[in-house]
Amino acid sequence: MCGIVGYVGDKNAQDFLVSGLKRLEYRGYDSAGVATFDESGKATLVKTKGKIADLESKLARERREDKAGIGHTRWATHGEPSEVNAHPHQVGDIYLVHNGIIENYKELKDQLKGYEFKSETDSEVLAALIDSFYKNGEYPLTNAVVQALKLVKGTYGIAVMSDKNPDEIVVARAGSPLVIGVGHGETLIASDASALLGHTKQAIYLNDGEIATVSKNSVEIKTLNAEPVSAKVEEIETNLAAIQKDGYEHFLLKEIMEQPESLKETLRGRVNTRDWMVHLGGPGLTEGELRKVKHLVIVGCGTAYHAGLLAAYYIEQFTPEITVEVVIASEYRYRQAYIPRDSVALIVSQSGETADTLACLREIKKQGVPTIGIVNAIGSTIAREVDGGTYVHVGPEISVASTKAFTSQAVAMVMFGLTIAQAKGVRSGILRPYISEIAKLPEEIKRVLDEFNEPMQEMAQKYKDYDHAIYLGRDTAYPTAMEGALKLKEISYIDANAYAFGELKHGPLALVDDRFFEFALLPEGELYDKAVSNVQEVLARGGHVIAVTNKKEFDLPVEDVVKITTSIELMAPILMNLIAQLFAYYIAVGKGYDVDQPRNLAKSVTVE
Ligand code: AGP
Repeated sequence: MCGIVGYVGDKNAQDFLVSGLKRLEYRGYDSAGVATFDESGKATLVKTKGKIADLESKLARERREDKAGIGHTRWATHGEPSEVNAHPHQVGDIYLVHNGIIENYKELKDQLKGYEFKSETDSEVLAALIDSFYKNGEYPLTNAVVQALKLVKGTYGIAVMSDKNPDEIVVARAGSPLVIGVGHGETLIASDASALLGHTKQAIYLNDGEIATVSKNSVEIKTLNAEPVSAKVEEIETNLAAIQKDGYEHFLLKEIMEQPESLKETLRGRVNTRDWMVHLGGPGLTEGELRKVKHLVIVGCGTAYHAGLLAAYYIEQFTPEITVEVVIASEYRYRQAYIPRDSVALIVSQSGETADTLACLREIKKQGVPTIGIVNAIGSTIAREVDGGTYVHVGPEISVASTKAFTSQAVAMVMFGLTIAQAKGVRSGILRPYISEIAKLPEEIKRVLDEFNEPMQEMAQKYKDYDHAIYLGRDTAYPTAMEGALKLKEISYIDANAYAFGELKHGPLALVDDRFFEFALLPEGELYDKAVSNVQEVLARGGHVIAVTNKKEFDLPVEDVVKITTSIELMAPILMNLIAQLFAYYIAVGKGYDVDQPRNLAKSVTVE
């Protein structure tokens, strides 16, 4: 999604704006721009289609020592990626950057008589609307912004400046994140705290419906109804090292390889192998409330959804009389779904800002259902709006493709299920195997990554030129196959889809020919033989099968086999997913694609 930065202080604004936008590059974008102002209000507006490097080349010819400004990276929603559609948008004395969607922008545009619009964007309409209330400085900028926002339907995170008031930035949010960095003699604005690192660790997270007027030494927050809001300054919980590549070529490989450590952070203080119990403090549900839970709703998008699907299989295995429903947020938010009594909703999101997931959270809360966040980004909107939660603590996940978050989200949800089972008095003999395997997972993950990193790099060369792929699994290996297919499609653009093995004969088997390869997950267990039969059906039709298994005796005549030796049985799919992550990564690298910022995608989908 779009990135927003702003600066007002004693240092060079252009320098902070560009460095801040670089920190937000991972979110995905197609154009960028900055506007800075000198003390007299003289504005310098520089925009470009393309990357921040292109913006820097243009800025080299427009170097200014201005001390205030705003900047933006745009992920196109209304209007193609272009310089004219790039932000900041200037209308009259108003300069604006915007993240979100103004749903009634056409109606507002029609009412703005006398304005000539240069772009196709909804954001420019918002800038004109503010200008129409600002009336060349007749009204304070903040008041003009408030009047305009009261007419807006949709989502926004905005930063607004005027050349008549160049040492002030007005920021406001409804649905798109904004954080205010409090420095010494400077105030910084960003849509993600990572842009503030190295400048300040003190941050104020703006909430929906709030508007802030910031200058270099002051931050004044109100609601749109002019009620004062006391600014809560929080410590930014991440650090610069966590958002650097540490010698890896891509963030994606770094984040795949750091899963032993990131999972350890997820488990820290939560898994006790002395009493074989799981202790999750965050959900905030009492033993009695946990004991009464009869229905779980797990909500997420993309990888978060897949993590929920995987966790659901495990929770059903060890928790009696509980139903688990896993839903895609963008569908669920519009269904007329009734959530039965004695339900709990798990809201799963790495970024904590996904618009559809946030909307589901708000809908579910209206039904009075307790909501528990399974979130990574500290202080994110979802994390602040759920009733309780379990941060997965994997550190910033920069690459658009989610990897370490998936592993930790799935395990965190299994641990939440275990806390319910413990409260319901499920025998420790049933729970202990899961807890024991969870405790061993970080070491096992490290072993698998160390053993298969190079072999998967080699294997990827054989398959990188295929255009189609089928991922297959049964039971817990099925959501794992779905996640593997998503990884491949989102970074290599190969048309990869996952099917339950048992579904092959109901249609997908017709696809099998030389255009496809099949990535088959075969964990040991009671369904292993059935999966073997399914692979034989594929082989009989000339399929090009890659088998991933922990079965020592595996001996089918497949093209490639990845045999994982591990003491992990129940949670073997978590290890098999690592193979799929490495495979997708090296195929995308082999194809020469932008692995960390794949085309058309954004790290945090803060628009519907
Ligand atoms: C996964 O690799 C993708 N980046 C995407 O599917 C992502 O999982 C989805 O957009 C949900 O994001 P969230 O976890 O931040 O809510």
